[in-house]
Amino acid sequence: MEIKIISDLQNQECDILAVNLFEGEKTTQELANKYAIEEDKFEGKFGETYLLPTYGQQKARKILVIGFGKKDEFTPDKLRQATGKVIKKAIQMEAKTVTFEYTGLDFNWAEQFTYGVGIADYTFDKYKTKKDKHVETVYVNADEGAIRFAEKITKAMKVSRDLANEPAQYATPTKLAEIAKDLKLDTKIYDKKDCEKMGMGAYLAVGRGSAEPPKFIHMKYSTPNPRKKIAIIGKGICFDSGGLDIKPAASMLTMKDDMSGAACVIGVMSAIKEIAPDVEVHGIIAACENMPGCSAYKPGDILTAKNGKTIEVDNTDAEGRLTLADALCYADELGVDEIIDLATLTGACMVALGNQAAGIVGNDDGLVKSIIETAKECGERYWELPMYEEYKESLKSNVADMQNTGSRWGGASTAGLFLKEFVENTKWAHIDIAGVAYFDKAQGEFIKGSTGAGVRAMIKYVLK
Ligand code: BES
Ligand code: MN
Ligand code: ZN
Repeated sequence: MEIKIISDLQNQECDILAVNLFEGEKTTQELANKYAIEEDKFEGKFGETYLLPTYGQQKARKILVIGFGKKDEFTPDKLRQATGKVIKKAIQMEAKTVTFEYTGLDFNWAEQFTYGVGIADYTFDKYKTKKDKHVETVYVNADEGAIRFAEKITKAMKVSRDLANEPAQYATPTKLAEIAKDLKLDTKIYDKKDCEKMGMGAYLAVGRGSAEPPKFIHMKYSTPNPRKKIAIIGKGICFDSGGLDIKPAASMLTMKDDMSGAACVIGVMSAIKEIAPDVEVHGIIAACENMPGCSAYKPGDILTAKNGKTIEVDNTDAEGRLTLADALCYADELGVDEIIDLATLTGACMVALGNQAAGIVGNDDGLVKSIIETAKECGERYWELPMYEEYKESLKSNVADMQNTGSRWGGASTAGLFLKEFVENTKWAHIDIAGVAYFDKAQGEFIKGSTGAGVRAMIKYVLK
């Protein structure tokens, strides 16, 4: 799909001309005003649409009026959602060309517009013999610079969404490593032996029950005189069966998405050269599968992480934090200024926030606040969760420094406190994307499946 910038929107031949309507106002189109507003009393409530054929009276075959709701309640987020709605309608009608004529807006909407188009036009049809329909061309008159920039981000989101939508049979740790190498950054892949030498006893334990070998991936983007250095870590559990503490069927169904954090990192790194921030960016993934094979780690096992701390395995399904523990130690030793990890870490975070927001915690208030702010600007929602010291009580073990699970109550917070044990010298934030990375039904601009969570916020953050 291509976005073309044109100035003469009226005379553009197209399948659909989309115009906006604020409640109590008029559209730019006489036909729409006459039939939709005057005759049919279409009010323009937010998200409502009205379709009108033009029967050859205009260059556009149809006019689609999209309700923008009350003008004083309109936001950039709503603009993205409304734009997504138009694209979805267009796809349903098998329209190929859509012209957008938005008026009456008092902010620069080009970026959110592009996100709306890019997110809504996405489908995953690699394995379908009959391919999905798409819009081919979008015509608009808006800030070209903002559109071309946002297109780089939607392209990175597509990389990320494709990867997380892939079945686990394809997106193995080895495949992630290959894809990472192909990005042609400064990339190191560490195999099992290398990780043993580095003392990554927590990460390696998780991967032991699988026939797929673990791959620890480190991609580096450098720039002369970097303003700062950031490491972004993505949880890379290519399939989470739960291990010996095996999950029930319904919970296992979507667990190919347990590498959504890794998919985010690969999405971000796929765009990093084009985005070219004056920041050094490290993308890190401790990829493996959590399987109950005959070499699997067991409840009661005591593991030693890279920083020497020991962990009693209370539940093999709390595997993400074990892999992240070693990845955090590794990043902590790089001497970067900030570490951010993204992980589909806890069902508890989904219970707390549903799928409208990711949870965020960290050891530095400024970093956490800044990430929340950045996310908000590009249409992602992160919500800070508490990390009270008292929660740590439940992580106590009588045979090791800690155990890998705490109380069920406040599970996203205890997971955060667990991770904190593995960052000693660096500012760090942890984003729990369990609820937002993968939708089990279509929602808003998104189809069922992966959402590319974190890609927009991380790219914008490294540019800040
Ligand atoms: N990958 C899951 C978390 C998850 C659940 C992500 C649902 C997306 C949707 C994680 O590895 C897990 O199994 N967590 C357990 C931890 C528990 C055993 C302490 C959980 O949340 O139930
Ligand atoms: Mn698990
Ligand atoms: Zn998991």
